[in-house]
Amino acid sequence: MATLQHAPLPTPRPGHADTPAPPTAEPIIDIRGLVKRYGSLTAVDGIDLCVYPQEIFGILGPNGAGKTTTLEMIEGLRGPDAGTIRVAGLNPVRQAPQLHKLIGVQLQTTALFDYLSAAELTALFADLYGADSGQSRVKELLALVGLEDKAGARVNQLSGGQRQRLALAIALVNSPTIAFLDEPTTGLDPSARRGVWRTIRGIRDAGTTVVLTTHYMEEAEVLCDRVAIMEQGRVVAHGTPSGLVRQLGAATTIRAAIAGGSVATAELTGLAAVVDAEQELLDGLPTIFLHSNDAQATLIELLDLAQRRGLTLSGLNTAQADLEDVFLAMTGRRFDPADEAPSEPAPEPKRRRFGRHRASA
Ligand SMILES: Nc1ncnc2c1ncn2[C@@H]1O[C@H](COP(=O)(O)OP(=O)(O)OP(=O)(O)O)[C@@H](O)[C@H]1O
Ligand SMILES: [Mg+2]
Repeated sequence: MATLQHAPLPTPRPGHADTPAPPTAEPIIDIRGLVKRYGSLTAVDGIDLCVYPQEIFGILGPNGAGKTTTLEMIEGLRGPDAGTIRVAGLNPVRQAPQLHKLIGVQLQTTALFDYLSAAELTALFADLYGADSGQSRVKELLALVGLEDKAGARVNQLSGGQRQRLALAIALVNSPTIAFLDEPTTGLDPSARRGVWRTIRGIRDAGTTVVLTTHYMEEAEVLCDRVAIMEQGRVVAHGTPSGLVRQLGAATTIRAAIAGGSVATAELTGLAAVVDAEQELLDGLPTIFLHSNDAQATLIELLDLAQRRGLTLSGLNTAQADLEDVFLAMTGRRFDPADEAPSEPAPEPKRRRFGRHRASA
């Protein structure tokens, strides 16, 4: 069976995507050359990051990429081995007490006291922070995360998703300037996840900067203003989701099975707006993949070509490029959430994808 051409995708420039930060803002978090080693393992390998005030910033990456380690260093919970971190002008290691007044932290796994009610626990943490622990403030915090009806429920009577939302309320007891949320939606069902997204947007709209980690590309795309994609301790891409996708150069992949003749890949590459083209056998049918930055222009010319040659196109389909494609282009490997090991299954069925990453038949 012939192995057909797999043209390499244009590789986006590593580092910062094109979209500028809010023009007048200074970064509220500024990280340069950050390194953390655990023995011989370099968990964070020289990363640079900027987070701007009042954005939702996502650190996205597979298991073990170094997301939690990075967050813990920013929060002042772990000292870096090299590099500098400034959070609201503070050094998280040397100025931890001042920093902790400004930040709220939702840890990846939070052990809550099972036998306290949601309201009691929220009040307890508010007291620990020296924040308002009065009934109306507690009610307000629980309402913010959609748990107003569960104020009297003990933690061990809450579902996993409700506990996660309680942990989010607790992270907000001191009305933080910056909230750090480590995988706030892992294990939630789609509707609970959307609820948490709404809450997070609400927090941001009320003036808080949010830094979160996630395994979910889709979550990063719809929720985050800017993202850093991490792999093996490095930031492989950094920018707005749409800016990163744009840098790929091909926004859409068009797929079609072809019958009644053949077309040279070079001809396909010559069609309007095609960035690159591939052909392979898919389910026994010769199939073309066109990576295009103007799907309509490409489709018009493709249909015209088919008509002139008497070719039949079937199973015509298009897919928009997304952060998964960015990850693939930057690392050469797929980032499949199914390979990840969060505590519970991925929430949404992954839509079937196709295109440049499929091995040749
Ligand atoms: N306390 C520790 N001691 C030794 N190694 C650690 C420690 N914490 C993390 N690591 C290792 O450092 C690497 C990065 O871990 P980290 O927890 O930062 O990843 P992550 O991106 O948050 O992963 P996940 O998505 O699974 O939460 C992993 O290889 C992990 O095994
Ligand atoms: Mg983690």
